[in-house]
Amino acid sequence: MFTFDGRPIPAEEQQSVAAALLAAGIRSWRSTRIGSRPRGVFCGIGVCFDCLVSVNGVPSQRACLVVAQQGDVIEPQDELREGP
Ligand code: FES
Repeated sequence: MFTFDGRPIPAEEQQSVAAALLAAGIRSWRSTRIGSRPRGVFCGIGVCFDCLVSVNGVPSQRACLVVAQQGDVIEPQDELREGP
């Protein structure tokens, strides 16, 4: 179990953050710098960087590669708020 945007999300052992979010019905967790378009998983293998989240305060982590850990605090990444 971890939290996403303050919401508890169950996760299986060795499950990626992205897989757990999708299983919980959450399909987008980032917005683009231009146009604030919603993004989530696209490639699912760590290539496209569409799935970026903040993990325990560390921004720009690929949710499709990060294994969910008990007690992780995952936050959505809004590039309009975080980037110049
Ligand atoms: S979905 Fe492409 S890097 Fe994560």
